[in-house]
Amino acid sequence: MKCIGLEHCSWALRKSSDIFILCRESGTIEAVNNAFILKLGYDERDVIGKSLEHFFESQEKWCEFRDVSIKKQQVDNISVFLRKKEGPLIKGFAYTEYIQEKTEGEGYLRVIVKKVGEKQDLEARLPNIEKMAALGYLSASVAHEINNPLNIILGYAQLLLEDFEPGTEAYESLQEIEKCSKMCRQVVSDLLKFSRTHKKEKKVININECLEEVISVCSHQLMLSRIKLHKKFSEEPLLVLGDANKLKQVFLNLVVNAQQAIGEDGTISIISDSDPENNEIVICIKDSGCGIPPEVQKRIFEPFFTTKKGKGGTGLGLAVSRNIIVEHGGRVEIKSKVNEGTEFKICLPRVKEQ
Ligand SMILES: Nc1ncnc2c1ncn2[C@@H]1O[C@H](COP(=O)(O)OP(=O)(O)OP(=O)(O)O)[C@@H](O)[C@H]1O
Ligand SMILES: [Mg+2]
Repeated sequence: MKCIGLEHCSWALRKSSDIFILCRESGTIEAVNNAFILKLGYDERDVIGKSLEHFFESQEKWCEFRDVSIKKQQVDNISVFLRKKEGPLIKGFAYTEYIQEKTEGEGYLRVIVKKVGEKQDLEARLPNIEKMAALGYLSASVAHEINNPLNIILGYAQLLLEDFEPGTEAYESLQEIEKCSKMCRQVVSDLLKFSRTHKKEKKVININECLEEVISVCSHQLMLSRIKLHKKFSEEPLLVLGDANKLKQVFLNLVVNAQQAIGEDGTISIISDSDPENNEIVICIKDSGCGIPPEVQKRIFEPFFTTKKGKGGTGLGLAVSRNIIVEHGGRVEIKSKVNEGTEFKICLPRVKEQ
């Protein structure tokens, strides 16, 4: 005979605004109700069979939650944070029951979560803000400690190079020391630039001239990789109040990234123009390279984030570049499509001719 009572219960569970989860004690999810799907924004097929751990704030919190639920068999009102597919974490209170139908074998957890709110966005971003602040502090102190011994290593290597014949083993080893020391010096110098907070005096400069200088530095390299350079600069000078060297560094970073994204055979366009409506100048650096998937796009400005590990990438190029642009009162925007290419757009406040 059909049990009517059970049907009512399962209807109530489906319609409930509280989240319901049935999982094995190992975490594997067996069933969830509509509230879980709606509130956390996942597809049911992304949930069933996955471990509940994925939806918890951290592995540590999940283990704590599971252990206490199993140990006490029944727990009321534990505060939990659940991970949505997108957006801030959800805060809720969980009620759990541990069931073990047979005396041996894996048991199950029934979990109800009453949602109380969303963890503030700022709170969710806090670890990152702390990371940035710590990085600034750390880099400034470490850079000074490293710079001196590094320069001594480099100096001695260069001095010793004069005592050996090119082609000998000693000469090649010394060259390797020289090359690696220079790479370290570059990282230290990037770190220092990143953490520097004092502002240097800025001058009125023409962005088109900065772009020309950057092109003259990298055009040979681009030619060797069969990358066509397409440039379109505004005829009038585009004046900004800024530090020409720092801005050139930004453009160079973007062109180098574009080149690395293409590899060989492709096009890089560099376009400059004014936007009278916003009283800004706009510089676009566009490439026909591999493009950046959305999940990577979210992280590209993070210091030390790189997809070029083992290929010499430090992941500081864009972090440093954005810092410089913000220091100039500007902003960086990005548009990218995988396998089609990427466009970085830089907007800077314009100044009138003096
Ligand atoms: N034009 C681009 N096309 C595709 N991916 C890009 C592009 N520019 C940046 N990226 C991605 O952003 C990441 C971060 O770039 P960033 O310049 O900060 O570091 P990097 O190039 O990896 O190393 P570094 O610049 O320090 O040598 C890159 O590793 C790459 O994945
Ligand atoms: Mg780079």
